Amino acid sequence: MKDTYEKFAFDYDEFGSIESYLGDEKNFFSRLFNEHNVKTVLDCACGTGQHVYMLSQLGYQVWGSDYSQSMLKMAEKNLSARGYEIPLKQCDFRYLEKEFDDRFDAIVCLTTSLPHLHTDEDLLLAIRSMKNRLKENGLLIFTSGTTDYTLSLSPIEVVINREDFSRIFVKAHDDRFQTIHIIDLYHSLQRMEENQYDIVYRILLDNDYRRLLSQAGFTDIKIYGDYDRNPYDAGSMRLIVIAKQTN
Ligand SMILES: C[S@@+](CC[C@H](N)C(=O)[O-])C[C@H]1O[C@@H](n2cnc3c(N)ncnc32)[C@H](O)[C@@H]1O
Repeated sequence: MKDTYEKFAFDYDEFGSIESYLGDEKNFFSRLFNEHNVKTVLDCACGTGQHVYMLSQLGYQVWGSDYSQSMLKMAEKNLSARGYEIPLKQCDFRYLEKEFDDRFDAIVCLTTSLPHLHTDEDLLLAIRSMKNRLKENGLLIFTSGTTDYTLSLSPIEVVINREDFSRIFVKAHDDRFQTIHIIDLYHSLQRMEENQYDIVYRILLDNDYRRLLSQAGFTDIKIYGDYDRNPYDAGSMRLIVIAKQTN
């Protein structure tokens, strides 16, 4: 499998801190994990490590894994700059059992990571692998920025617009797939450069998650439209899925 983030990883964090572009995830996780007595968490698409850092700050025992060696390199760098040592492994989330013997109280797969898989077979393989690494009553959490509402927005989005740097998304989609062309423009005397990264997501909306999670054996599935856990609807900016391992 090709690593889409091989080069993008090194500039990925130009998005800024996760609080600034994702909203109040910290309170969301803290409230949810307290309610369910979560102590151990695996972030199986940990990217540049922002969530493992946040969850570790909240006091949870955290592990991180990702398919991309480049993303993991950035995660190591970010964590060690903040004085944190968190175990990180290179692992495809379709095969978590290859790297993890233990089971976790919660597994998170955040910010539109699962939709990198394009077929039902692969999606089910991943969800089953995650389910198998959960303790009884453990939680599996997905978050995504692809929603009925965001799919209806203008195909051109200026995501970052600083004096020295701009990031533009040019988006296109059909019924099944969304392509995001990410255009990074560095425009200062120190760095003048342009890069394009192309990401293809399988479009997974609320009913797709319900169907796939049910097929993988989950019976307790909740879907929300924001971090205050309001219901998902036609105006939601985010899609948040919480499935509980009950069998
Ligand atoms: C959009 S980024 C999100 C990163 C991070 N979760 C965040 O919130 O910033 C998607 C991440 O999913 C990872 N990924 C994609 N397919 C994967 C797979 N099959 N197994 C593990 N990680 C995968 C990518 O390498 C990338 O780090």
